[in-house]
Amino acid sequence: MRISRVKTLRLSYPYYLTILLCIMFVFSASLSYYILINDQCNCSGPVNQIKYTTPSRKKLISTKHKLAILVPYRNRFEELLDFVPYMNNFLSNQRINFDIIVLNQIDQYRFNRASLLNAGFLETRDNYDYIAMHDVDLLPLNMNLSYKYPEQPFHVAAPTLHPRYHYDKFIGGILLINRKHFELVNGLSNRYWGWGLEDDEFYVRLKDAHLNITRPVNITTGTNDTFRHIHGKDRKRDTAKCFNQREVTRRRDRQTGLHDVKYEIFGRKRMEIEDSPVIVINVKLHCDLTATPWCNCDKKAETNNSANKKKT
Ligand SMILES: *[C@@H]1O[C@H](CO)[C@@H](O)[C@H](O)[C@H]1NC(C)=O
Ligand SMILES: *[C@@H]1O[C@H](CO)[C@@H](O)[C@H](O)[C@H]1NC(C)=O
Ligand SMILES: *[C@@H]1O[C@H](CO)[C@@H](O)[C@H](O)[C@H]1NC(C)=O
Ligand SMILES: *[C@@H]1O[C@H](CO)[C@@H](O)[C@H](O)[C@H]1NC(C)=O
Ligand SMILES: *[C@@H]1O[C@H](CO)[C@@H](O)[C@H](O)[C@H]1NC(C)=O
Repeated sequence: MRISRVKTLRLSYPYYLTILLCIMFVFSASLSYYILINDQCNCSGPVNQIKYTTPSRKKLISTKHKLAILVPYRNRFEELLDFVPYMNNFLSNQRINFDIIVLNQIDQYRFNRASLLNAGFLETRDNYDYIAMHDVDLLPLNMNLSYKYPEQPFHVAAPTLHPRYHYDKFIGGILLINRKHFELVNGLSNRYWGWGLEDDEFYVRLKDAHLNITRPVNITTGTNDTFRHIHGKDRKRDTAKCFNQREVTRRRDRQTGLHDVKYEIFGRKRMEIEDSPVIVINVKLHCDLTATPWCNCDKKAETNNSANKKKT
């Protein structure tokens, strides 16, 4: 009897110790799980490489549609430093659900705003309902300029408001268009290397598709005070025309567009400029030198450079 009692006691110490350790383990595990789930933000929805909405901004969003501000870009760093914080503030005040996406052209060819927009659209269309084709050097000043979801293409930088371009068919600067309509017109032409005219061709695409271009109404600030044009006066634009670029780019392009834009992506970076988030996508455009040799106007090929100053 005695011996067996001692035996029981001896066995009990490790037994209780094991139970105690188990309880401690379960307790600490649940504690860390609790901390973990409370550390995550409440934002739901699919996780995507380039989805980026800060929780603080999320609270202010009142729209269900999501806007991608697509900014074709090359070598305009000081303008970007102004643009991102300004637009972040402007659109947050309108409670727009948006991201600013800079399309940084990194190939050796001339700037191609239209192809960058096609590429930017393809890279973002799964996550956004509409885009703004947005110049980096044009800031909206009047808070009544709406960036809400456009049922029809909405030209924010209307000719009656833009500081510089006043012709009726002008749709450059800032244009909002929904995903369905951008696809309907096959995006923009890929033939416009160098500065200008791609927006005029896009105007014809919208007209051919019987879309009604809408513009802001009841804006009282006029051409001087509705936008700030931050483009430096001394900055040269690439207006060269070489090979048969002039003839070709004066015509409506029924071949190229969203469906055949060729490019590669070299990295997506999330950055912040003065606490304002921005996504930079490095885009390397491909040029078919037989179809559009003017994507590279070297000195020899350059001809009649002084002509075509319509929009400067
Ligand atoms: C915006 O519109 C409101 C209402 O029409 C008007 O009172 C206000 O002055 C406008 N703001 C600007 C900056 O024009
Ligand atoms: C454009 O406007 C016209 C006349 O106001 C209308 O008949 C037509 O349906 C509109 N087009 C679209 C695509 O909404
Ligand atoms: C624009 O202003 C006019 C006159 O004040 C008004 O009748 C009209 O409803 C306004 N339009 C919009 C879309 O606010
Ligand atoms: C815009 O500014 C220019 C130059 O400062 C001035 O001459 C012109 O009268 C202004 N226009 C309006 C509508 O205020
Ligand atoms: C330049 O333009 C002129 C007149 O428009 C034309 O005669 C000439 O052939 C052009 N030069 C070249 C090299 O294309």
